Amino acid sequence: MNRSRFIQQAMGLGPIWESREGWFTDHPAEITRHALIQASHDKAMAELHHLETAAPAIPEPAAQASAASLPSQQDSQLPVLPATALPDAEVDALDHLPDWEQLEQNVANCERCTLCRTRTQTVFGRGNPQARWMLIGEAPGEHEDRQGEPFVGKAGQLLDNMLAAAGLDRDRDVYIANVLKCRPPGNRNPVPEEILACQGYLQQQIQHVQPVLIVALGRFAVQTLLQSEQTIGKLRGQVHQYQGIPLIATYHPAYLLRNLPDKAKAWQDMVLAKKTYVQQAG
Ligand code: URA
Repeated sequence: MNRSRFIQQAMGLGPIWESREGWFTDHPAEITRHALIQASHDKAMAELHHLETAAPAIPEPAAQASAASLPSQQDSQLPVLPATALPDAEVDALDHLPDWEQLEQNVANCERCTLCRTRTQTVFGRGNPQARWMLIGEAPGEHEDRQGEPFVGKAGQLLDNMLAAAGLDRDRDVYIANVLKCRPPGNRNPVPEEILACQGYLQQQIQHVQPVLIVALGRFAVQTLLQSEQTIGKLRGQVHQYQGIPLIATYHPAYLLRNLPDKAKAWQDMVLAKKTYVQQAG
């Protein structure tokens, strides 16, 4: 007996109405629905074929990113935070999933680490909270701290261009968040205590969005989500899982601005992401 039937029976509801095997398969509405699903699948496959065969001309943002806003050493390692290392208060907080507005408010009021003293404002995320793709970066930089939105600087422009080349609209098709919600001063690397203090918020965002696919941008996001010390070079090119959600690891757009040859690899990662998405959603 399936779960909903069990609950209905336990509530004294019944008798349960059930369709007979094959009853609906030749109903006109069902035929139309099936045709629509097939057409959307065919379109996605055609797009994918186009992406795989045509190397995109992803426009560069107007100028190079300033050195200060670039993530350093994409291939170096971060200390791994054990999943069980959450302090009790954080674990309790995760037991209770606040609604989206409350979660945003909790982030805005957060004082869990010292970054609250130096931030201009928190950066919660942007895009469509019902999107099927979720992109996760590192932390707000100077522009993001000032504007309160992720990826608004040069790296963000490159990211937008890459998404557009992959047929994705950054406001409609994706939700974009960061591991840290506050800017580390001087754009220094996040430290483990900050990642630990902030990770509950990201987990709750993921629980809300329930993406079909996660794309982790840069080593902080990749190593944090995968609890791994391996380099992006090793982790990219395969489909990982984050709590049952397929995760693609790729380079951070700010890193790509300085390492143009790796843009081809980042494009391969986008193609893998799209292929994985089509398989999951189809
Ligand atoms: N880099 C990130 O990882 N996130 C941002 O929001 C901006 C730059």
